[in-house]
Amino acid sequence: MKRPQLAIQWFPGHMTRAKRMIEAQLKLIDVAVELLDARAPRSSRSPLLGQLLKDKPRVLALNKADMADSAATARHLAAMKEEGCQVCLLAAAKDKGLKELLTAIREAARPALEKWQKRGLGKRAVRVMILGIPNVGKSTLINRLAGKNKAAAEDRPGVTRGQQWVHIAQGMELLDTPGVLSPKLEDGGVGFALAVTGAIKEEVFDREQAALLLTDFLADAYPQLLRQNYSIDIETDDSVDDVVAKIAVSRGCIKTGGSVDVQRVLSLILRDFRSGRLGRATLDPV
Ligand code: G4P
Repeated sequence: MKRPQLAIQWFPGHMTRAKRMIEAQLKLIDVAVELLDARAPRSSRSPLLGQLLKDKPRVLALNKADMADSAATARHLAAMKEEGCQVCLLAAAKDKGLKELLTAIREAARPALEKWQKRGLGKRAVRVMILGIPNVGKSTLINRLAGKNKAAAEDRPGVTRGQQWVHIAQGMELLDTPGVLSPKLEDGGVGFALAVTGAIKEEVFDREQAALLLTDFLADAYPQLLRQNYSIDIETDDSVDDVVAKIAVSRGCIKTGGSVDVQRVLSLILRDFRSGRLGRATLDPV
């Protein structure tokens, strides 16, 4: 299937200040964890971070794995590993994969640790920061990693006011504020994936159009999810409008005159997808 394309009204100018802040924060850390949405592991990656990091070690963490198609996730993981990336799988909200993430961070920090040890600086903690585009689960992950230690965090010189280092594991400290990255939205396929996963503010795209594209995508790639959740039949020659109408009838989204309440049913489909109620699905092709 051709990937759905959604135009986003994008204003890149706003990011200069955020970029400068991230540049300053990156100077303080040893390992960057880029948090991605497992339902859109390619689209949720920030091209900017690669440029900013240069040679600094990075771990890619695919979060919300509980909402993604497991087979697609396995293929994405394998492809990313083949590119030489340090990757791990997470479901931060479910406390899944946190140990594996710490192991991956340690692995990524190993060359730096060895260097310090040679210079007799072996006691220093590895400093880590979580970065990612909006809504991938950065705050959730920081809270899960920091846990009860967050209250005991301490201020350190060189960190922007209000930011603190939190002890998260032996020899490991986490910056308690995440780096918010801007997504790359010139590509309509990326726009579609990020709009339906909730990474982009709704003011900059057409919500109904996004939901219609999502329904079309699901009817083609994951028809069983629509069949099961809405108790409908989907025939191979059904148009997206046919599928929307069937869901509307099944869910009672019908106007007084008997016509389909398109706005209401599309809103319901989008909400069901975002909440994970529809089931596991991945939007990015490998
Ligand atoms: P951010 O800082 O990157 O912007 O993301 P944040 O942690 O605020 O998480 C965004 C949403 O994603 C939250 O849901 C959060 O609960 C959910 N989330 C985070 N990690 C996972 C995960 O591993 N699995 C699932 N299924 N969801 C996850 P929300 O509905 O916006 O808020 P709330 O109702 O949970 O408070």
